[in-house]
Amino acid sequence: MLAVAVLAAGKGTRMKSDLPKVLQPLAGATLVERILGSCRALKPQRQILIVGHQAERVEQSLSQHDGLEFVLQQPQNGTGHAVQQLLAPLADFDGDLLVLNGDVPLLREETITALLEQHRSSQASVTLLTARLDDPTGYGRVFADASGQVSAIVEHRDCTDEQRANNLTNAGIYCFNWKKLAAVLPQLSTDNDQGELYLTDTVAMLSPAMHLEVADADEINGINDRYQLAQCEAVIQQRLRRHWMAEGVTFIDPDSCTLSDGTRFDRDVVVEPQCHFRGTTTIGRGCRIGPGSFLENASVGEEVEVLYSVLRDAVVADRCSIGPYAQLRPGSELARDCRIGNFVEVKKSQIAAGSKVNHLSYIGDAQLGENVNVGAGTITANYDGVNKHQTVIGAGSKTGANSVLVAPITLGANVTVGAGSTLTKDVPAGALALGRAKQLVKENWS
Ligand code: UD1
Ligand code: MG
Repeated sequence: MLAVAVLAAGKGTRMKSDLPKVLQPLAGATLVERILGSCRALKPQRQILIVGHQAERVEQSLSQHDGLEFVLQQPQNGTGHAVQQLLAPLADFDGDLLVLNGDVPLLREETITALLEQHRSSQASVTLLTARLDDPTGYGRVFADASGQVSAIVEHRDCTDEQRANNLTNAGIYCFNWKKLAAVLPQLSTDNDQGELYLTDTVAMLSPAMHLEVADADEINGINDRYQLAQCEAVIQQRLRRHWMAEGVTFIDPDSCTLSDGTRFDRDVVVEPQCHFRGTTTIGRGCRIGPGSFLENASVGEEVEVLYSVLRDAVVADRCSIGPYAQLRPGSELARDCRIGNFVEVKKSQIAAGSKVNHLSYIGDAQLGENVNVGAGTITANYDGVNKHQTVIGAGSKTGANSVLVAPITLGANVTVGAGSTLTKDVPAGALALGRAKQLVKENWS
């Protein structure tokens, strides 16, 4: 039997934020989502989140997470006090308890699995994760002998100078025999610099206490302030980019680009400098993205080019070309071989194959047939101040420069709109529509 408890009740004072620490985002997921994700593979029988500071907000953020129990810690009197709150809910539980600090988001699934395996095969009372850090400032120091047996953990602020020189560091990830832990939890005292109940003090009361040292010290990075948050973000970004490079994506300047967990690339994509991918963006084979583009929840087909552009909740089919300086807003759908040029904004519109909107346009709430050519500066006037209205442009139609199509309006197939027209009425297929003042010339006027 396995229970997992994540400590997420602390305020995160050092973050200086209105947001609880465990809800700070890293590469698009909160710290606590990342921690919970790292123990999903263990399939625990119980999953408990200890909440306290802004408990409701933390619970709400995880409402989609199935099978999670919330236990309230009020007030927050330290990590040992947090785990004491489990004495009642786990009164009948007999098995291992994995305790994870909520602010250690870089842990790998394999590491937690290895910790649990070692704990079970050695029959220790507690097994904790450690690493040797170049700079262990702020972390608890672990005192262990050569056989891996731990005698104590001393917090940085409670260490003597000599103890501080020990760089074997407590990760804040522990596997306990729950019955044995439950027996010593009531004995914790507040006799330390912070006057709190420390979970780490239970380690000296349990025997045998063992540790597992991780090879990659990055994994145990705890986040207490914004600097550590940025360092962890950098580690996650590095991991994501390396993963996609191994899958056949070229990054011209990897460090200048950011990804999310949900980003997916097919092979032979080239990502130019300064590109940012958020949410569940997917990029098809052979695309060239950037430089300077931002894509959020975008679905991009094969061999598409995107240059200095923003795409949000947009769908782009094969061989389209976007930008420079275009914006595809939510609900934009481009079929294959479309071209969206500079200073063009598209919103909630379907554009059929081979159509072009090359310069300086706004296309909103519109449906364009195949091979439409939208002239420079064409605007769909979709909003009457109260409601949004549709514009429909039939296949093969052309609009002249600076046309305004006042919606609702339908142009049939193969319509030509004269430059500078403001159209308010439907135009039948094959027609020429002009809606502008006639030119007047007065000779010898000057
Ligand atoms: C803790 C460990 C330290 C370890 C480090 C690893 C203790 C006493 N110290 O220190 O040995 O090296 O983590 O990152 O455990 N929390 C609660 N309730 C509380 C207090 C904290 O739920 O009353 C939660 C916090 O939300 C956080 C976690 O416990 O997720 C750790 O608390 P934090 O204050 O960050 O402990 P550290 O000082 O980092
Ligand atoms: Mg911490």
